[in-house]
Amino acid sequence: MAYTGLGLLLIMLLSCMLIKITGDPLRFACTDTSGTSYTTTSNRYLTNVDLLLSSLSSNATTDTGFYNTTIGDGSDTAYGLFLCRSDITTNDCQNCVATAGKELKTRCPSDVTAIAWYDYCMIRYSNQSIFSNLEQDPIFYPYAPKDFFNLEYYNQTVSDLMYKLVRQAAFNSSSPKYYASGVENYFTGYDKVYGLVQCTHDLTKDDCNVCLTGCVYDIPNNIYPKEGGRVLKPSCNLRFEFNSVFFKRTASTLDLPAINSTSLSPSTNSTGTEGKGRSKSTLIILVVTIIIIVIMVIIFIFYQRIEKSKQKHKHEDGDDQSDITNANSLLFNFDTIKVATDNFSDANKIGEGGFGVVYKVPSLCITVRYVTFGMQCKVSNT
Ligand SMILES: *[C@@H]1O[C@H](CO)[C@@H](O)[C@H](O)[C@H]1NC(C)=O
Ligand SMILES: *[C@@H]1O[C@H](CO)[C@@H](O)[C@H](O)[C@H]1NC(C)=O
Ligand SMILES: *[C@@H]1O[C@H](CO)[C@@H](O)[C@H](O)[C@H]1NC(C)=O
Ligand SMILES: *[C@@H]1O[C@H](CO)[C@@H](O)[C@H](O)[C@H]1NC(C)=O
Ligand SMILES: *[C@@H]1O[C@H](CO)[C@@H](O)[C@H](O)[C@H]1NC(C)=O
Ligand SMILES: *[C@@H]1O[C@H](CO)[C@@H](O)[C@H](O)[C@H]1NC(C)=O
Ligand SMILES: *[C@@H]1O[C@H](CO)[C@@H](O)[C@H](O)[C@H]1NC(C)=O
Repeated sequence: MAYTGLGLLLIMLLSCMLIKITGDPLRFACTDTSGTSYTTTSNRYLTNVDLLLSSLSSNATTDTGFYNTTIGDGSDTAYGLFLCRSDITTNDCQNCVATAGKELKTRCPSDVTAIAWYDYCMIRYSNQSIFSNLEQDPIFYPYAPKDFFNLEYYNQTVSDLMYKLVRQAAFNSSSPKYYASGVENYFTGYDKVYGLVQCTHDLTKDDCNVCLTGCVYDIPNNIYPKEGGRVLKPSCNLRFEFNSVFFKRTASTLDLPAINSTSLSPSTNSTGTEGKGRSKSTLIILVVTIIIIVIMVIIFIFYQRIEKSKQKHKHEDGDDQSDITNANSLLFNFDTIKVATDNFSDANKIGEGGFGVVYKVPSLCITVRYVTFGMQCKVSNT
């Protein structure tokens, strides 16, 4: 049916709205690793930066998700690299690198060093070699606007998941390199924490581990108690979200059970917060369901109106076969018609058609009700 299709479409639209929209710029820095911003008047260097940025975006077609390159020579050499998230398509990676490059040129037009973090990619350039160097500054902690509602095991669970991902990414990932994603069940049983970590591919395993371990260490003091957040560094970055699958699952995605809460000896009785968590999830499901039902009812009513007005049109056209079937079901017996037309009074005569004389029937319902003892307007011909 048409409205079943519409309903499905609506549900799909609604669920799309619930998923977080990705692809916006996260942070920019027109500074070097000490936080200093140097501008240059060297047009040769700025030209090299332009060439570098277009080279990066044209080389973003390689599916490794990482690329480093050098343009120019002497004091005007520009060094640059990009890192894409390993779970996205090559096309998304290329779009992200191209967009980020354009944005960097407008935000840091004459700066010697610059770096941009996006959801899908990170790009960076400098007048000094930045390859194979562990860079942990500048550092940013963008986080979700809302607090998570059940904080009892927040620090433990997030750290547990992220440290496992760090170990996996640094020491146990080959392809994709220095990348790991995973999910851990929260102690409530119905909440989940999703996490992702990655390093630039020019680092050593130990440097990747050092970089990411520092990121995880910073979470309690910089992101707690938000329901999601990121740690962004030039050499590595991480992200985690409660109850939001923000990455595509790959073969290397870790799936971890909840931390054993009995062994953690909770400081407070958990039933209160657990109840709150459950009632909040239930409330969200309830509200979404009600909205969907209301919208479907509106569509149904709207659809029926359209159908009715279509039938009216057909009626007026008069050339439809269904008119005759309708007429058959409306057969009245002679007495009824006699009463209704005031004994075939000429005053009620409208004219003569192909079927015979046509009479106007004033207040048919009332007249018929008298005749058929309360069967409003529905009269049988027996
Ligand atoms: C990178 O892009 C440049 C042009 O922008 C091209 O000359 C070069 O061959 C590319 N490198 C690779 C590895 O594709
Ligand atoms: C990319 O980085 C590596 C070090 O990690 C370096 O040896 C190589 O020369 C760089 N490539 C370019 C094109 O600069
Ligand atoms: C990079 O630029 C800064 C600021 O202009 C300058 O002090 C530094 O010497 C430059 N480094 C190189 C390797 O050219
Ligand atoms: C590395 O990953 C494999 C599966 O991909 C797993 O069996 C193994 O235990 C992991 N090793 C470490 C040290 O995490
Ligand atoms: C988590 O860590 C932060 C920062 O150290 C602390 O303020 C907070 O109380 C911790 N939360 C819990 C539930 O232990
Ligand atoms: C949780 O930990 C306790 C004590 O450490 C242990 O007795 C229990 O079997 C554990 N439960 C699970 C599911 O691992
Ligand atoms: C939690 O508190 C409730 C009543 O508030 C009590 O019945 C229950 O035994 C407590 N549970 C624990 C594990 O302390």
